[in-house]
Amino acid sequence: MFQGEFNGKTLLATGGASGMGLLLCEEFLKYGGNAVLVDINADALALHVQRLNERYAGKVIGVPCDVRDYKQVCNACDEAVKAFNSIDVLVNLAGGAEIRMLGVAGDLEFCDVPIEVYDWGLDVNLRAQMYFDHAVFKQMRAQMSGVIVNIGSIAGMEGCPRNIAYSTSKSGAVGGLTMSVALAGAKYNVRCVALSPGPVLTRKAMSNMKTLLGRAGEPIELVNMILFLASSHGAFITGENILMDGGRILMRDKVHGDNNKYGEK
Ligand SMILES: NC(=O)c1ccc[n+]([C@@H]2O[C@H](COP(=O)([O-])OP(=O)(O)OC[C@H]3O[C@@H](n4cnc5c(N)ncnc54)[C@H](O)[C@@H]3O)[C@@H](O)[C@H]2O)c1
Repeated sequence: MFQGEFNGKTLLATGGASGMGLLLCEEFLKYGGNAVLVDINADALALHVQRLNERYAGKVIGVPCDVRDYKQVCNACDEAVKAFNSIDVLVNLAGGAEIRMLGVAGDLEFCDVPIEVYDWGLDVNLRAQMYFDHAVFKQMRAQMSGVIVNIGSIAGMEGCPRNIAYSTSKSGAVGGLTMSVALAGAKYNVRCVALSPGPVLTRKAMSNMKTLLGRAGEPIELVNMILFLASSHGAFITGENILMDGGRILMRDKVHGDNNKYGEK
């Protein structure tokens, strides 16, 4: 289905040193594209870029970047254009639930979460997606083409008091941000879409979250959806949020509380 779709095209994926971001880059390379891996974890990034370069010489670069810092975001986009002359697909995968990423636990109702934890959650999961959408837009507008994929979460659709910044950020990213970028981009042939995953097995603990289908998603299932959205097959989709959650949203009354599993490693 994706054969020939990404020949000569360039993907910039944040969160590229791990999980779905890394797998997405591997798949994009497999289908003939170039990949720009962007991540704050410089060691993991260097390791994976070196490994991928052995197979796809000249088609991969890594840019260490804290996605919360706009200057670093612009630098990552500049490096991508310098290396490959275009950014055809941006996927904003960097992020995660604040309690998992920062190791600070605490429910909103007990008011014991430091406000800096919320700041981090909002910055990495929402502000950074807006930064990247903003930074690549100029390039895509000049190209008169491009696809931006913002990443949400089931937590943004069902709420999550233990990861309140995560939940808030993810609904903002797949809602107002995605619709606004889609509205601005249409006349330049730039599409903006969003994907909200349910539990995905980039970590074992995600299998603890219930879904209607009785299982968590495989990373490749989500990555294939991203590739679909970025490809010509998704050419009529813009401004939309795709919820890919194994039907979990239909079980709202039965799963209350188990979305705290986002806090587990
Ligand atoms: N795995 C799931 O069950 C699931 C469910 C719903 C949504 N999501 C979302 O999908 C995306 C990818 O998930 P994953 O499971 O592959 O995650 P992951 O933890 O494997 O990868 C996230 C990457 O983001 C990077 N990162 C974190 N903070 C950063 C920063 N400030 N600057 C740059 N990079 C930073 C990390 O270093 C890591 O490499 C995340 O946004 C996550 O919230 C995941």
